[in-house]
Amino acid sequence: MSGTGDIFGLFPAGTTRDADGTLVVGGCRLDDLAREYGTPVMVVAEGALRDRARAYREKLAARWPASQVVFASKAFACTAVQRLMVSEGLWIDVAGGGEIVTALAAGADPATLVLHGNAKTTEEIELAVRSGVGTVVVDNVDDIDRLEATVPPGRVQGCLVRVIPGVQASTHAAHATGHEGVKFGLSPAVARRAAARIEASPRLRMDGLHTHVGSQILVADELAAAVAPLAALGRYPVYDLGGGLGARYTYTDHPPSLDDYLDALIGAARAHLPGDARILIEPGRSMVADNAVTVYTVTTIKPSATPAAPTFVAVDGGMGDNMEVALVGQRFEATIADRVGGGEPVTVVGRHCESGDVLSTDVPLRDPKVGDLLVVPVTGAYCFTMSNNYNGARRIPVVFADGGRARLVVRREEWSDLLVRDVAG
Ligand code: LLP
Repeated sequence: MSGTGDIFGLFPAGTTRDADGTLVVGGCRLDDLAREYGTPVMVVAEGALRDRARAYREKLAARWPASQVVFASKAFACTAVQRLMVSEGLWIDVAGGGEIVTALAAGADPATLVLHGNAKTTEEIELAVRSGVGTVVVDNVDDIDRLEATVPPGRVQGCLVRVIPGVQASTHAAHATGHEGVKFGLSPAVARRAAARIEASPRLRMDGLHTHVGSQILVADELAAAVAPLAALGRYPVYDLGGGLGARYTYTDHPPSLDDYLDALIGAARAHLPGDARILIEPGRSMVADNAVTVYTVTTIKPSATPAAPTFVAVDGGMGDNMEVALVGQRFEATIADRVGGGEPVTVVGRHCESGDVLSTDVPLRDPKVGDLLVVPVTGAYCFTMSNNYNGARRIPVVFADGGRARLVVRREEWSDLLVRDVAG
């Protein structure tokens, strides 16, 4: 799929170009940031991210006042992002012990944490209970056993039960979580029994039901379709409707706007849920994806060898800092930082030992040269959290840019970090 469109439109709100054509994100020239922090570097437009968090909270509250936006921190779980969300009044969804640790370090009130996981360990349940995590989403009956064994006398743990809504979402197969047969949640009949067990437990409180249809969903009605199956399970004080709204990665993606998504979701809530219930939503990707870009340096160009072979433009990162392409085939666009738009199609590849280490195929770049800065927009979701050390890559830094000022919020790994856990001596 060839990229033909205005790539500028995929960048964070407020992105401009300097007189010489260089991209400016959060008021900072990307070449200045590359010089100061090196490449690859992830640049977050802090103001745009804050605006998004605020818009989410205000737009949901305008439609359903007894509501709460819970940031799915698995999409970008560094303390700077979690702290920003906390400061905007959001709760934090934590998928496991590590995200409890970072959320607490970010200053989140433990009562505002919502713990997920289809295979929570005893250690994680103990950490959650000890830390005072407000809500545990029960995903299996063993969660109930572990909670009953862990919650001390006199304490009561708030619980939601995750229900499989029976909704097949039209997204990447690995991102669909709402249909029968997925590993997450309980089918309605089993969920009913789990709820009854929680209701009967003196240490647990049955707050309500949870569901999550999947991720990168581009059809609002598919997200709204999960509401009625929850309502069919009965009246509860809380309904957590999950996340899942898709982001615009390419010119051909047309995700619903925040307004259209919330209209559909809350429309379904009005039709099916008790009017006095509290509604939670858990956006991750659509909160952060388009508010960050990754800046690379072109390390080599391998010209097309035969008419059938592409020209390869290779950069100093790849599947170590962006697993989305290799994992689900997500398409990304790309541009040279100071020559935006136009050019001939090339294949942008990473530096890793895998043919699947591709950042973008058939993407037009204008006159790419070794040493150029190559920018990939829409890398804010799940790239930081799924980054890895394949081929001894050092995980990349995160820089917040706002109003022309930049600050490092996660440093680049050093070579010595790669030896820190290696205790063989
Ligand atoms: N709530 C629950 C229970 C979830 O499992 C997820 C995402 C979310 C909320 C947030 O969904 P979002 O708004 O971000 O679509 N590793 C994948 C993404 C997996 C999504 C997992 N669950 C990736 O590479 O993109």
